[in-house]
Amino acid sequence: MEAGIDDIALFIPRLYVDYRDFADARSVSREKLEKGIGVKQMAIPDSDEDTATMAATACLRLMRKNNLSPKNIGRIDIATEGGLDESKPLTTYVIGMLEQVYGKGSFQHCMGVEYKSACVAGSRALLDSVNWINSGENKAGLVVRHRESPGTWAPSEGRAAIVIASDIAKYDIGSPGEYTQGAGAVAMLVTENPRLVSLDRGVASWVMQDDYDFYRPHGHETPIVNGKHSLDCYVEQVARAFRGFKGNALQTGAVKNSHDFTGAIDYFAFHLPFPKMGKKALERILAEEYVDEITHILGPFGPLLTNERDMLGDKSKLMEILRIKKSENVFRQKVEPSVIGCAHVGNIYTGSVFLSLASILDTEHNARKSLAGRRVVFLSYGSGSSAVVYSGVIGEGYADAIGRGIVAPALEGRQRLSMEQYGALHRKETKEPVAEKRDQFVLKSKDGEGRRHYAYNK
Ligand code: HMG
Repeated sequence: MEAGIDDIALFIPRLYVDYRDFADARSVSREKLEKGIGVKQMAIPDSDEDTATMAATACLRLMRKNNLSPKNIGRIDIATEGGLDESKPLTTYVIGMLEQVYGKGSFQHCMGVEYKSACVAGSRALLDSVNWINSGENKAGLVVRHRESPGTWAPSEGRAAIVIASDIAKYDIGSPGEYTQGAGAVAMLVTENPRLVSLDRGVASWVMQDDYDFYRPHGHETPIVNGKHSLDCYVEQVARAFRGFKGNALQTGAVKNSHDFTGAIDYFAFHLPFPKMGKKALERILAEEYVDEITHILGPFGPLLTNERDMLGDKSKLMEILRIKKSENVFRQKVEPSVIGCAHVGNIYTGSVFLSLASILDTEHNARKSLAGRRVVFLSYGSGSSAVVYSGVIGEGYADAIGRGIVAPALEGRQRLSMEQYGALHRKETKEPVAEKRDQFVLKSKDGEGRRHYAYNK
C-alpha cells in the first residue's frame, strides 16, 4: 500500500466576516458575492493569532486525536506564504509551542522545513513526505512506540510525517481581492496504510513558468494582484498539469479507461481561492477532454479555427458542448462536495486544496455514500506560477478518521465581526484580542529583537 494522508485536523480562526455585511459596507451586490464568487463567510485572524499559532494548534489537535507522542513523528514540514522570519523556519516556532505541552526537547529528533511556492507549496510538502515514507527512510535506525488507539500502529511502520499548511489571505481594503480573504491551517498525518487517501505513485505532473499574476514583494503585507490575469494563469496551468497527469495515470495504470478518463475520477479537489474557481477550471478541463466532440459540433466553423485554443475560446459553442456532456452534473457530483469549506472560510492559500479534500470527505460521508476505493484528483495551483496535479484512493478506514467530521467541528463557536471590528483588525489597530481563546496557542508578545512569545491557553 502506498503512503498517504491518514488523518486531517483543521484550525480555523473563530472570527469571521459575513458576506452580507461585507457587501453592504463595500456597496457590492450580495448576489455577486454569493453567486458570482460563491463566498459566505471569511475567517479573519484575531490580533493574537498568526501562521505559527494556527499551525501549532492544528498540529496539536491532530496529535491528540490520534494519540500520538512526539517520538512517533520524524518530520514536520510547513507550507506557508506567511513565514515570520527570513531565516528561522515556521516549524521551529511550532515545535517551541508544542513543547510547552509535550515537554522541553521532546521534538529534538524531528526534522522540518518551511516550504514556499505560493499556494502550491502544500502539495509539494505532502508529496515529499509521502516519498520519504515510500522510500523507507522513515524507518532508519528506529524503535518506534506505537499509538495504542484509535487503530494500531505497528512499529514496522516507522515514523510518521506531519505536513501543515498555514496561511492568512489578506488583501487591501476596497480591492477586488478583499472578498476572497480567509485564514486557517490544515495539519495532515502522513503514514503507510493511510485511512483517508493513499497517493498514486508516479502520476504527479508539475508545470511552472515565470509570471506576475499575484505576488508579494518583501516588506508588503498584502499582495499585488493582477486579478483577471490570475484567473487565466490558474486555468491554463491547471489544464496543462492535468494533461500531464492524464498521460502519467494511463501509463502507470492508475487509471485504465482512456476513453472516459474523467469518468474514472470520482472527485476533483481543486485549490479554491473562492468557490466559483473550481467550476471555471473544471469547464476548461472538460473542454479539452471533449475536444473531438468540439471539432465535430463546430462543423462548418471548424476549418476557420486554426488551433485548439481558438476552439476553446468560442464560449457559446463551448457552453453548448459542455451542456451536452452534462458538465453541470459532473460539477454537482465531483466538485460541489468540495466547496463547503472554502465558502465558509475563504482562501487559505497552501491549505486550500486539502480543505477541499476534507469537505469532500465530510459532505459525502454525511450523505452516507460509500467512499472506500474512490479516486480523488488533487489540482493545486500557485501564483507565480505553477500547478501540480496528482491523485489518490480513499482507504477502507476513512470513516474512523473522519469521526464526527473534519470541517464542521473546526467551525464551531464562531464569532461574527462587525465591519468596524474587522477594519480595526485589518489595520492592526486592535489593542486587545477580540475573542477569548480556549484550547489553542496564542501570540503573547513580540519583542524589539524580532522574537515572538507564545503560550497555550487551556
Ligand atoms: P471581480 O472584479 O470581482 O470580478 O474580481 P467580476 O466583476 O468579473 O465578478 C466575478 C463574477 O461575479 C463574474 O462571474 C460576474 O459575472 C459575477 P464569471 O464571469 O467569473 O462567471 N457577478 C455576479 N453574479 C451574480 N449576481 C451578480 C453579479 N455581479 C457579478 N449581481 C477576482 C474577481 C477573483 C479576480 C478578484 O476577487 C481577485 O482579484 N481575487 C484575488 C486573486 C484570486 O483569487 N485569483 C484566483 C486565481 S490565482 C490563485 O488561485 C492563487 C492565489 O490563491 C494565491 C497563491 O497562489 O499564492 C490567489
